[in-house]
Amino acid sequence: MRFSGCAAWSSYNPVRKEVASDVTNTVRWLPNLRKPLASGPRELDTPSWGGKPFSYQEIVQPVLEKHCVSCHNAKTRETLNLSGQQDEHGIPASYRTLVSQGWVHYCDCGWNSGGCEKLEPLTFGTVKSKVWDVLNAGHYEVKLTTDEVRRFKTWIDMNCPLWPDYVDRTLRKHLGTRVSSLE
Ligand code: HEC
Repeated sequence: MRFSGCAAWSSYNPVRKEVASDVTNTVRWLPNLRKPLASGPRELDTPSWGGKPFSYQEIVQPVLEKHCVSCHNAKTRETLNLSGQQDEHGIPASYRTLVSQGWVHYCDCGWNSGGCEKLEPLTFGTVKSKVWDVLNAGHYEVKLTTDEVRRFKTWIDMNCPLWPDYVDRTLRKHLGTRVSSLE
């Protein structure tokens, strides 16, 4: 069988200015294809916060404390409070602000809330979060490090989990030691 003369089997290489058969092309590409396989699986990088269940209060809140809370607290901006003060349900003010006010994109995937439909790529998560439009536009000289951005964005792209476990809200230990947002 002749490969190179048949249009269906050939392709034009604009760099080498020649028509080569797909077989020749495949052979030319093989070394490149083999490389990643030969190097074996890559070790996964552990994030700075460690490979453990994601806790908003441990991983994201410190970023807000460092960069946002001086201007965004109950006294300065009650409507855009980014502090970690917890309400009677143990929910930090910052979490309510970001999620309830729609500054971060959150999909309500609850069984009964009709949010279980398939979502197209790039229609949810960080890319659809208004808080990044605000920060990326330049916001009062706020500058987050790469690690801080990763913490914030990972949280959003995980669909904004609050607690790192499945303990029912009413059974959570910290309810006894909460700080009321009204204080
Ligand atoms: C130096 C003070 C200051 C710091 C620090 C600061 N902000 Fe702000 N932020 C403001 C002020 C003042 C406003 C209201 C006026 C405006 O929108 O610029 C605001 C508004 C906002 C808004 C609403 C924007 C809008 O279009 O209505 C968001 C969201 C926000 N800040 C998020 C943050 C986050 C997240 C951080 C930390 C990463 C942060 N800010 C740090 C002062 C600050």
